[in-house]
Amino acid sequence: MTNVLQELETRREQAKMGGGQKRIDSQHAKGKLTARERIEILLDEGSFEEYDMFVAHRCTEFGMEKTKLSGDGVVTGWGTVNGRLIYVYSQDFTVFGGSLSETNAKKIIKIMEMAMKNGAPIIGLNDSGGARIQEGVSSLGGYADIFQMNTLASGVVPQISMIMGPCAGGAVYSPAITDFIFMVRDSSYMFVTGPDVVKTVTNEIVTAEELGGAKTHTSKSSVADDAFDNDVEALSALRRFIDFLPLNNREKPPVQPFFDAVEREDTSLDTLIPDNPNKPYDIKELIYKIADEGDFFEIQPDYAKNVITGFMRIEGSTVGVVANQPLVLAGVLDINASRKAARFVRFCDCFNIPILTLVDVPGFLPGTAQEYGGVIKHGAKLLFAYGEATVPKVTLITRKAYGGAYDVMASKHLRGDVNYAWPTAEIAVMGAKGATGILYRSELGDKDKIAKRTKDYEDRFANPFVAAEMGFIDDVITPRKTRKRLARAFASLRNKDLKNPWKKHDNIPL
Ligand code: HXC
Repeated sequence: MTNVLQELETRREQAKMGGGQKRIDSQHAKGKLTARERIEILLDEGSFEEYDMFVAHRCTEFGMEKTKLSGDGVVTGWGTVNGRLIYVYSQDFTVFGGSLSETNAKKIIKIMEMAMKNGAPIIGLNDSGGARIQEGVSSLGGYADIFQMNTLASGVVPQISMIMGPCAGGAVYSPAITDFIFMVRDSSYMFVTGPDVVKTVTNEIVTAEELGGAKTHTSKSSVADDAFDNDVEALSALRRFIDFLPLNNREKPPVQPFFDAVEREDTSLDTLIPDNPNKPYDIKELIYKIADEGDFFEIQPDYAKNVITGFMRIEGSTVGVVANQPLVLAGVLDINASRKAARFVRFCDCFNIPILTLVDVPGFLPGTAQEYGGVIKHGAKLLFAYGEATVPKVTLITRKAYGGAYDVMASKHLRGDVNYAWPTAEIAVMGAKGATGILYRSELGDKDKIAKRTKDYEDRFANPFVAAEMGFIDDVITPRKTRKRLARAFASLRNKDLKNPWKKHDNIPL
């Protein structure tokens, strides 16, 4: 018996060494942690249960039969984050560069199936040289099997990808299907084809970092949702992020303990909106002042900054926030902002997360660039996302809600449950200047006349009361009481039950 136990321990120790000390040192020298060290930081201490530690590849090409390493380049299993179940795979770059083999793919699929059966999120820590070159098509098949599982799991359990090293070629498409992608600055990159191929095909000379580093994907391509300075910071942020999410699509969002009175009034909100309607202000100030303990986890903070998306809690319960940002492009909706917000709204709706929409929007951005880029279809994505969402929807118009953008931003007409406005709200087809310019075109030469017309229009429409008279706004609320009013609104909607007509699936304008 002692011998058998000894052998088990020896095998375990061997497996834990991955590709050996030299490669572990090389990983550390690059500023990266090993696959197992990452799991240790991600999960609660001592909670990791590993599967398939002794799995080895079955390849016999290129002399591979002589190099079999236990685990085969990916560490898989389950554990807890603040006591809540999650499944995790962590690619081990010290074993064949973390490349994906047939057996390695099977390990990943096994935990994905377990996660779906048990209703828990799937977290992938990616650090891989891509398809295991020695295995050829078996490896490609493994990728496709994972893509298929990612697709089936979409909307069933949250899927999160943390890119912590290379992620290239077709390998990028598994993270791309998942709900969120986070990256580590300077040590991770993602691209379909690397700098050498790019140079050959397009003559562009570009570094891996420029082509697919964290900055590129968080600010230009919007492939990634945020980036962090190093492995430890990234994994700690991931723990914080997981706390906001339900474990699956049948659960309500988790309720965390909170130490912030719901009745808390904030008098500074009474003066948040500047007297001059063309002057910007920071909508994040409102977000921080509404949220429990001012805690807000922003998604895509560096992309399409004219709309803000992220998670907060009210009365301990997760709320997804979509807010126009008057500080950037006056908070206008454009192609990028529409896509960003639409995807966020759909995630919230998949996972029963109520949505708070803060509106200060002058409309959709005009121009050939937008029209040629398909702003009609992209804007429709946001409209569609709000229209199909059945989760509780609470909307607050702080200032402008003009034109189509008024409709889009979770208006009453798109089944907004509770629609509030501040007294500073202006709900109209367009701003006063634009409206008088069209209605009184013949008087444009007469400055005084036009000024009077503009003033008349403002008096009539630059307020929330016309909409409130029609019941499109449920109440005009005092800014300082916003947190309490929103908390009560969400509390009243906790048991909301709304179903869309039966369909196989919808046909959102992709
Ligand atoms: C097998 C691989 C490997 C791979 C790396 N290694 N990638 N083994 N298959 N795909 C091994 C190396 O041989 C090396 O082994 C160890 O991992 C570390 O690699 P290095 O090159 O020394 O590391 P580094 O200098 O950091 O460079 C990392 C890298 C580079 C940029 C990822 O290894 C690389 O370019 N690899 C190939 C990438 C690639 O073309 N993959 C296929 C993409 S196509 P030793 O024994 O020396 O430690 C693809 C298709 C998927 O993925 C399609 C899905 C539909």
